[in-house]
Amino acid sequence: MYDKVKNRLPYPVLDKLKAVRNYGRSVYLFRKDKQRFLKNFSRKNTVEEEQLKARLLFYSHSVEKGLSRENLRYGFGKTVVPELYDLVKIYHSQEYNPYNVVYLNALSVLNQYINLHQARGYDIESLIDTEEFITTYLSYDFKIGGMNEVRCETVNEKKIKNFKELALGRSSVRDYQESAVDVKKINEAIEIATKSPSVCNRQSTRVRVIRNQSVIEQALRIQGGFNGYSCPPCLLLITTDTRYFIDVTERNQVYVDGGLFAMSLLYALEYEGLAACALNTMFDPKKEAATRQLLAVSEAENFIMYMTVGNFKKEYKVPKSHRLSVDEITTYI
Ligand SMILES: Cc1cc2nc3c(=O)[nH]c(=O)nc-3n(C[C@H](O)[C@H](O)[C@H](O)COP(=O)(O)O)c2cc1C
Repeated sequence: MYDKVKNRLPYPVLDKLKAVRNYGRSVYLFRKDKQRFLKNFSRKNTVEEEQLKARLLFYSHSVEKGLSRENLRYGFGKTVVPELYDLVKIYHSQEYNPYNVVYLNALSVLNQYINLHQARGYDIESLIDTEEFITTYLSYDFKIGGMNEVRCETVNEKKIKNFKELALGRSSVRDYQESAVDVKKINEAIEIATKSPSVCNRQSTRVRVIRNQSVIEQALRIQGGFNGYSCPPCLLLITTDTRYFIDVTERNQVYVDGGLFAMSLLYALEYEGLAACALNTMFDPKKEAATRQLLAVSEAENFIMYMTVGNFKKEYKVPKSHRLSVDEITTYI
């Protein structure tokens, strides 16, 4: 029926009808995205198992970051440590799997936090009841969470690694040497990342290489997720250009293609012997407007992420950031 009508209509009318249909589809699809997210994301006070795990991971990571700070502040985590401990109590009271690795990771991180402060004789009882934690929740001392101390012997040691070694050896590094980064290495890393696949080879990703220290400071002040670290010598901004997409069903592809490019770039930076850390660009409207103005990012561009980049120090600390196993994330159909 649709085809019969379609064949009889003049092209301008058909185009108009298609535009109306596409508009309807776009409203539906965006509404569906919104509903799915709002219905399922992990809210405060949730007791749903997966949502609770998301919050355990979020707060565990925050404490891990504090533990791996070069300039560690004893007593850090005044809000996140009590928050993490509350989540542990909720998980326990719901009688979820006590051997789940996300839960064990949270216990392990809190245990390291306690050990570190007790070794210093620093009182943290206002943040966590240490005796209650150890007797009720910590059945044994496992060390899956916390921080790792890493040595970087030579600049070129990464270049001789095979892909598995490079990927498994990469970590987000937030402390760098003060020295400037070699822009040739950055360009080579970007060149490697251009080989990332993109939908129909659309290649919508764009990179800004920011080396002006004052601009980096302003950008990171707006971003807010890098507080307490020294200003990195280089900051990259990854965006994708919406003008390279041709249908509303591609609405999320702007982030998929940008994400794929960003991951290639992270590996490529590691390969080039440069330390890096992805930083979110999850801006509220005010931060977004300020960033667009600061870095001349047009409204057509989508923020994918920032990356801080610098030269590796000889010794540095990183959060362990424990990963789920293949079994935990894979289903065979
Ligand atoms: C899109 C994205 C945004 C991120 N944002 C931040 C951030 O704002 N601040 C930060 O310190 N780390 C940030 N990270 C780094 C993650 O914390 C880190 O990748 C994660 O904990 C895993 O650790 P690893 O990269 O060392 O393996 C971000 C990572 C990604 C992929």
